[in-house]
Amino acid sequence: MTLIDAGPTGSLRVAPSILAADFGALASAVHEIDSETDWLHVDVMDGHFVPNVSIGPPVVQSLRPYSTKFFDCHLMMSEPGRYLEAFAKAGADGCTVHVEVGGTESLIRDARVLGLRVGLAANPDTPFERVAPFLGDIDLLLLMTVFPGFGGQSFMGEVMTKVSAARREVEEHALALDIEVDGGIDLATTPIAVRAGANVLVAGSAIFGRPHPLDAARALRDAAMASRV
Ligand code: DX5
Ligand code: ZN
Repeated sequence: MTLIDAGPTGSLRVAPSILAADFGALASAVHEIDSETDWLHVDVMDGHFVPNVSIGPPVVQSLRPYSTKFFDCHLMMSEPGRYLEAFAKAGADGCTVHVEVGGTESLIRDARVLGLRVGLAANPDTPFERVAPFLGDIDLLLLMTVFPGFGGQSFMGEVMTKVSAARREVEEHALALDIEVDGGIDLATTPIAVRAGANVLVAGSAIFGRPHPLDAARALRDAAMASRV
């Protein structure tokens, strides 16, 4: 199992979320945006941690031969520990678990043992203090800018306080940590998130929901680059 490199930590990246793509044509959707994609964001929903179900390891496995990009799997699951190995075997390169489900230390350890890049996610109403103790042990902090479960929701600007706090921690302690935002990211909200300190931008509707996803992905990247302070 060869893992795909995530690229330099802290660099600006666009991660299209396949949740907004046509599930009947995922391979071609992914192929179409390949040249403007850094990571591919895979939203996994278990119908328990969030009120929706989406995709699991078999889809990751089926999609793997069609993309050379880093698979950034966002596990919106109550019991992610039961599935980490299955995702690793299916071709996930990184897995992000939610801090709200607890057992964070052992989840981080288990993901490391499997060779995965490790992410920790926090819902919009989860205080920064919940994730702060783990920042030195993870590769990515995902600060949700909507309540997880559905694409197409509105960006919650108040989460930028946490994004800035995370960026300050990274700078003060020279942490090797990516700061990712997810939910309602589009051309209008990208500058807000990047200026606050986010460097990985997940976007579903703003890419796959557009008539020309490749152009939309390129425009998003340009907006992000132009906003970098
Ligand atoms: C929300 C998911 C997101 C979602 C974002 O539960 O974690 O990744 O796909 O969708 P948009 O970009 O449409 O808000
Ligand atoms: Zn997501």
